[in-house]
Amino acid sequence: MSDRQLVLNLFGAPYETWRRPDVDTARIWSIDALIQFAKDAEGALFDALFLADSPSLGDGYTSPEPFTVLSILAGHTTYLGLAPTLLTTYNEPYNVARQIATLDQFTGGRAGWNAVTGSQPSVAPNFGPDEHLEHSLRYARGEEFIQVVKALWESWDADAAEVHPGGRMTIDRSKIRDVSFNGDYFQLNAVFNTPRSPQGRPVLFHAGSSDVGRDQGARHADAIFTAQPSIEVARDFYSDFKRRVAGFGRNPEHALVLPGILPVLGGTEAEAEANFAAQNEKVNIEEVATRLVTWIGLDLGGNDFDAPIPDETWDAAGQSFKSRVAVMRAEAESKKFTARQVLLRANAAFGHHIVIGTPEQVADEIELWFRTGAADGFNYRAPFGKPAVEEFADHILPLLQRKGLFRKEYTETTLRGHYGLPIPPPAD
Ligand SMILES: Cc1cc2nc3c(=O)[nH]c(=O)nc-3n(C[C@H](O)[C@H](O)[C@H](O)COP(=O)(O)O)c2cc1C
Repeated sequence: MSDRQLVLNLFGAPYETWRRPDVDTARIWSIDALIQFAKDAEGALFDALFLADSPSLGDGYTSPEPFTVLSILAGHTTYLGLAPTLLTTYNEPYNVARQIATLDQFTGGRAGWNAVTGSQPSVAPNFGPDEHLEHSLRYARGEEFIQVVKALWESWDADAAEVHPGGRMTIDRSKIRDVSFNGDYFQLNAVFNTPRSPQGRPVLFHAGSSDVGRDQGARHADAIFTAQPSIEVARDFYSDFKRRVAGFGRNPEHALVLPGILPVLGGTEAEAEANFAAQNEKVNIEEVATRLVTWIGLDLGGNDFDAPIPDETWDAAGQSFKSRVAVMRAEAESKKFTARQVLLRANAAFGHHIVIGTPEQVADEIELWFRTGAADGFNYRAPFGKPAVEEFADHILPLLQRKGLFRKEYTETTLRGHYGLPIPPPAD
């Protein structure tokens, strides 16, 4: 086995299930189905279950709240990391720090938090009369939010809480630092009330790939989630990101780059292509076009779906999710996609890398990205249906194990341990 091991989170976006006509959407609200999904993920040795979120009805899709879901699934799993997305624009840092720290305590160090600023303007009215904050302001608030959460997590020494024989816990207040923060968005004099994490600090994920988004991830995150449609673009992103991490005085190996990947499998490449085409035939293309307006502000209006998307249409796309517009546009232009092809790929993977082929081709592609500076691992996209996880476990996992890239059993108990990341030193 090589030293460096591939990271693989199972990525679940409940709302993605709505985009797959072949998946039973009732599973989203079935706790039995979700528990089975988590057990299957653990059976397939995934590092973590990573859940995206958008707290709105958006374009008509419901989606259960990921922190709650993962807290339930925690009780049905033993090793699986648990990574909910919670938006920095619509929460309070003390609450988020406490929620994640509590999940982390009860799971012996399996919790993470995916910090995102939130891309969808449809969320804003659910939290007040104000408009969706502009991109740079969302990041300014997100920056303060993350700083406060980290400071709270780091404010307890490991031995500040002691459990004595018989079960009585005592707290040494001198080993808990006050957290004073005086920012534009948050002003507080806080004392955290949750003991230090069994993994030093819960794993901090970040997702945001614009210039300011990359910097925020590079400054703070243990791992970032990103959409990279091709290996060339992914390599550029990877080296740019690692350079930024080093620029903030951090070890680049301690900030993992995890693009999303969507495999579409078949016994032969032709069969895989046919499977993708068969899935796409059931997709309502007009509906996808409507959704792209909500997701990234790309309005195809009266455009011909069988012609490329004109420059003016791309130029007029919203600024809320800058990085995804850029990724999708670059892919469409380099591959000369028609609007229909853009829509079908967006429906399947929303700008993430789609690999269509045999299990061997998928495993080779994963290895190539991992070994040639494009990724430290992946968020493996699977709708809430058993087949995707089962396909991975039966066909792809054995190949990755044979290549020496991935574990044959869990050897660690914490998420940080799964990732091979060191425990962060206590803050002063
Ligand atoms: C890979 C990836 C995953 C994301 N997941 C979510 C999500 O689950 N919920 C959400 O509201 N925003 C999500 N975002 C969007 C971020 O919240 C951010 O607002 C958006 O990316 C705009 O910033 P950017 O231009 O820096 O990417 C994600 C972004 C990326 C790159």
